[in-house]
Amino acid sequence: MSRSRSRSKYRRARIRHALFTLAPDKLLGGRLLRNHLKDQVVVRRFRVPAPLWRPELDGLRIGHLSDLHMGDLMPVQRIDEINRLLVDEDLDLLAFTGDAVDLDWQGIERFFEGMSAVPSRLGHYLVLGNHDHLDDPDSVVAAAREAGITVLLDEQVSVPVGDDGRLRIAGVDWTKRPQDCSERVAQVCDSARAEDPEAMVDLLLSHNPKGFNEASVRGIPLTLSGHTHGGQVAVKGKPGRNLAVAHRLSAGFYERDGSVLFVTTGVGSWFPLRIHCPPEVVVMEVRNGSWSEPGAPGNPTD
Ligand SMILES: [Fe+2]
Repeated sequence: MSRSRSRSKYRRARIRHALFTLAPDKLLGGRLLRNHLKDQVVVRRFRVPAPLWRPELDGLRIGHLSDLHMGDLMPVQRIDEINRLLVDEDLDLLAFTGDAVDLDWQGIERFFEGMSAVPSRLGHYLVLGNHDHLDDPDSVVAAAREAGITVLLDEQVSVPVGDDGRLRIAGVDWTKRPQDCSERVAQVCDSARAEDPEAMVDLLLSHNPKGFNEASVRGIPLTLSGHTHGGQVAVKGKPGRNLAVAHRLSAGFYERDGSVLFVTTGVGSWFPLRIHCPPEVVVMEVRNGSWSEPGAPGNPTD
């Protein structure tokens, strides 16, 4: 994206922040932000049966964070709490699926250092979201890498697992248009094949859930996404019926031809209101098995 176009998006986001957050909060004497910050972050644990997940990776434990939106709605103290929630989860892998920052990138180093300190046997991985592109995406990437986090910008990596196993993780950078998203997913799958004709991507990180369109065509067993915040306002007990009306894949699990997508409602917000849609961090144990929706009746969460 050109620098001037990116700056105009940054300015529009600042105006939106002033209109939807700062001004109403001021009118209410600071109550809006105070109440919003009382929302407890929940830890949701799932056992996920994924039909295309390879048996040698059975039982892999993945921590999933997304949409932190560090800024006025996500102060530093809360950042530390979020990373602490995952410390004792016995993770194999910790993935962050974009929007680390809300507007300005300065200060995000502290979150990345905390994330990197969460024990995770196979490492820490990150893709960028639309908000990460508003101010200075290069600095967000540099800060994550400095903390030891692997940033996947339309890239894939193969990580050794156990004695002779491999886990191939791909990540696509933010893009809005579904077709661009599909092209990026296709490109990372092709680059894996170029390295090894037998290679399949096991896990895709895509801020935009629309990455799942191509992921399911390519038979990627599991895709993790964010971006929608689950609409932030949902019908009680029905997280999929929410204000994210522009997104068909807006919250929770989806399955298509054996490929599974999880869209987290995220840990942060861009406006200070959440109803029946709490901020969340997610831990999933991925199993090779027939699909049945995690958390649905008859298939309780872990
Ligand atoms: Fe977001």
